[in-house]
Amino acid sequence: MTANDGLTVAILGPGGIGGLLAALLSRSGHRVICLAGDETAKTLSAKGIHVRSGLFGDFTAPVEADTELREPVDACLIAVKATALDMSLTRVPPAVLGDGLVVPFLNGVEHPGLLRARYRADRVAPAAIRAESTRVAPGEIEHGTPFAEIDLTGDPVPDDRLTALAQVLDAAGPTTRVHADEAATLWSKMSLLAPFALLTTRYALPIGDVRTQHREELLALVDESTAVSAACGGPSDPSMAIARYDAFPATTKSSMQRDAEAGRPLELDAIGGALLRAADHHEVPVPVATRLVSELRAAGH
Ligand SMILES: NC(=O)c1ccc[n+]([C@@H]2O[C@H](COP(=O)([O-])OP(=O)(O)OC[C@H]3O[C@@H](n4cnc5c(N)ncnc54)[C@H](OP(=O)(O)O)[C@@H]3O)[C@@H](O)[C@H]2O)c1
Repeated sequence: MTANDGLTVAILGPGGIGGLLAALLSRSGHRVICLAGDETAKTLSAKGIHVRSGLFGDFTAPVEADTELREPVDACLIAVKATALDMSLTRVPPAVLGDGLVVPFLNGVEHPGLLRARYRADRVAPAAIRAESTRVAPGEIEHGTPFAEIDLTGDPVPDDRLTALAQVLDAAGPTTRVHADEAATLWSKMSLLAPFALLTTRYALPIGDVRTQHREELLALVDESTAVSAACGGPSDPSMAIARYDAFPATTKSSMQRDAEAGRPLELDAIGGALLRAADHHEVPVPVATRLVSELRAAGH
């Protein structure tokens, strides 16, 4: 597999992230099969995916779509929300997938274990993506950030498979790098995301107000999440996360906060719940995270 080969790529969950990657890969000459519910699959088969992006341009790309994977593919990218992961995997039977890579783009740290229990462990290659992309309607994607960066990893996955897929993704648009240390890669994203998601959602405030009105709590929570990250093999310097939050535009909202505003289910268990479980496992005290997660759960999330 090289960037010049035409691949066949399945995309489970053609939403903000999955739809963007599906359209970019199709535009780059690869065969793309989106896996979705009946209505979304019909819309995508008929109209393709339309992307509006300052970085990648405005374009429409044709894709195939089905409700279930029916043939082997080179890779299956998984881009459903954590709340839909279990139920959506019935669309990707392990026996049909064969030797294909399974590449989840979900935020969080626990989904690779779930996927490795269902598919070949040495074919599950988690990816962390930095971008903001929204599915405004089926097949209509708005990519808002002036960047899109993917960190591809997978400790048991053969290097040549990771490198070849990274070349394909990179050639299609998003800057893509392979990282050797899976835990460090996933916790790098998680330790930055968890305090941002929990505090912006709990207080229904953008990052600018959180970092001024709730600064003590932000600092304490970042200390906690960094301590858990360090125990799990991830980044261990809280000042890096604080510097990143201070550099965010003041109006920035987390995707968890946007889900709460829209009345959608939150990825609270995949982010906050997973943080607490890792803290418990490594006996790291996390009182602020514990309180925030329980307050969000008490609020019905
Ligand atoms: N969006 C971002 O900017 C961003 C950035 C970084 C990381 N992430 C992470 O990426 C993951 C995906 O987020 P997202 O924002 O792209 O989500 P999203 O826009 O809500 O897209 C999820 C997609 O999954 C589909 N889906 C739901 N249930 C399904 C099922 N049972 N079978 C097949 N498809 C199903 C939805 O279908 P319909 O279209 O038919 O509703 C939708 O297209 C999350 O873990 C998120 O945290 C997102």
